[in-house]
Amino acid sequence: MNTNSQRHFDSRATNYETEIGEEYPQWLKWHLIEKYTPQGGCAVDVGGGNGRHAIDTALKFECDTFCIDLSEGMLVAMNNRANAISLPKDAVHRLHAICASAPSLPVKDSSADIAWSYATLLLLPDQDTAIAELMRVVKPGGIVILDIGNVWNFGWLYWRRYYRKRGFPGIFPISRTRATSLIDNLGGDIIEDIPTGVLSPFLLLPFFDKYPVFRRLIHKNGRYPDLDGIVSKWMPLFATRHYFVVKKRGL
Ligand SMILES: C[S@@+](CC[C@H](N)C(=O)[O-])C[C@H]1O[C@@H](n2cnc3c(N)ncnc32)[C@H](O)[C@@H]1O
Repeated sequence: MNTNSQRHFDSRATNYETEIGEEYPQWLKWHLIEKYTPQGGCAVDVGGGNGRHAIDTALKFECDTFCIDLSEGMLVAMNNRANAISLPKDAVHRLHAICASAPSLPVKDSSADIAWSYATLLLLPDQDTAIAELMRVVKPGGIVILDIGNVWNFGWLYWRRYYRKRGFPGIFPISRTRATSLIDNLGGDIIEDIPTGVLSPFLLLPFFDKYPVFRRLIHKNGRYPDLDGIVSKWMPLFATRHYFVVKKRGL
């Protein structure tokens, strides 16, 4: 990540979303963590930002939780939030903020029970290395959750422009075929493949963005999957993202 992108996330750190969120795409991220994180294990959140998921992981699953992010501002925001909500002392000791880049994780081989990266990989030109790092740090039999941008979605036209304007190198979605072959070559078996976001890019279009009714229709709170999730299952080729739950082979 270049310094422009680092500055971007530093500047967003204090007001970046801290709630897990009730809409399906946000709910899903926490749901997968809840489903696969063992009690008392070790978890790694890459691009973990302000600890939106890491704090709850350290608290709820009593995991040693490493929140790894390139933005120091985000990690400071996490520690401030942990203080502000008076996180119990033992949970504070289990929560580790690490400033590092996804393609080079300062974590030992095969040391974590679970690792995930949400809303981060698609910002990286060297995404393959970052995915290889996530696979490396997890134990054989452990779980890696990947949030991978899918190429065949017009929403990227908007987001590519959005991020380029802010000094990012771009957006790097990859095809499902390439993602699955990469995962296989890295020694992973996909145990869940959840496409989302066929409909959500419509909310970025003029007209649709004016009427909250469309958002409520597509992402009805408390509906899992929501309409967008259901349509995405029917036509995964046009999904915005795939959430891959991967089990590392070798146990
Ligand atoms: C859109 S936020 C996602 C935060 C959180 N994972 C979530 O789902 O809400 C992307 C995060 O990735 C971090 N990031 C971007 N590039 C990174 C890199 N190369 N290595 C580690 N973190 C990175 C940013 O600083 C930011 O906190």
